[in-house]
Amino acid sequence: MSDLDRFFATCLFEIDNCSDLSSIDAVRMAIFGKNGKITEIMKSLKNMTPREKREFGEKINNIKEKVRARLQEKTRTLELDDMEKKLSSEFVDVFMPARPYSPGLVHPLSKTEEEISGVLASYGFRFADGPEIESEYMNFTALNMPDHHPARTMHDTFYMKIPADKDGCKLLRTHTSPVQVRAMLQHKPPLRFFSIGRVFRNDYDATHTPMFSQIEGLMVDIDVGFAHLKWFMSDILKQFFAIPNLALRFRTSFFPFTEPSVEVDINYEIKNGKVVFGTGDKWMEIGGAGVVHPTVLEHGNVDAAKYQGIAFGFGLERLATLKYGVPDLRGYFESDDRWRKSFGFSFFA
Ligand code: PHE
Repeated sequence: MSDLDRFFATCLFEIDNCSDLSSIDAVRMAIFGKNGKITEIMKSLKNMTPREKREFGEKINNIKEKVRARLQEKTRTLELDDMEKKLSSEFVDVFMPARPYSPGLVHPLSKTEEEISGVLASYGFRFADGPEIESEYMNFTALNMPDHHPARTMHDTFYMKIPADKDGCKLLRTHTSPVQVRAMLQHKPPLRFFSIGRVFRNDYDATHTPMFSQIEGLMVDIDVGFAHLKWFMSDILKQFFAIPNLALRFRTSFFPFTEPSVEVDINYEIKNGKVVFGTGDKWMEIGGAGVVHPTVLEHGNVDAAKYQGIAFGFGLERLATLKYGVPDLRGYFESDDRWRKSFGFSFFA
């Protein structure tokens, strides 16, 4: 047996002995690789006569071809084996129930926000915004609460540790009313704006949270007055609650930025342990309102001799709670999945 015959036999033996794809790769490298057997064999060519070279070359080419074919064949068999093994071990059960997942729900506050915005937009009110970190000037002074005004202490204010500037110190706004002034400074009357946003007061129990949301409305025009305010409050609340005969009660009150000022109540009664609105003679407070104080108009660059304004502010959580029967205010902010599931709304509702 010549060396070449022996080499050929060894190749076939090693190929046949491979039992997986990685060992066949190793054998392929050992034969055809850069430092493999063939390269080594080719080196012996240089000491041969041209005739020997031709004979040897022919033989080695023949062997290469056969070995390659065998390698290919074996690789294919091993690949099929491999696939077979995977198919039988990696069983996919298409009937297995899917992992449970929790689809998103619309938070009752978002739902309420959307609904009340829709009602206000239908009256031509446009959205206005203001910062949650507000200046002392905008939150108080511009709203007719100068320094040391007793009404400032009614709001349990969170003051920021940020250096004061010409607008006083910075604080977390205690109501959305500063947006009234911002809207007036940005737009010329007549105007109709509303705002919805978070406000902050240092308070915490079942009916108070340090953060809550308000909805604020402002209308400034030549001859709007208290009568418009009454009609308007009544109409938007009837629409929002979808109760045509909802009754409203206006109680005189005090806000430094409105004169006269009222607190607005809606009627209800308890039927079979449930609160029912629009009937009965019990009253529930829903927010504050009034005719904008001339000083506030002037801080908003509005000529108070020519224009008048009406404004209102409601608690958004209060509206949501009354409409959808959410029991405890704190639930709104605790991100408890069980709460979300009981009070959330489908996106498609
Ligand atoms: N800003 C008042 C509050 O937070 C509510 C209000 C708004 C009253 C607008 C009158 C007019 O209590």
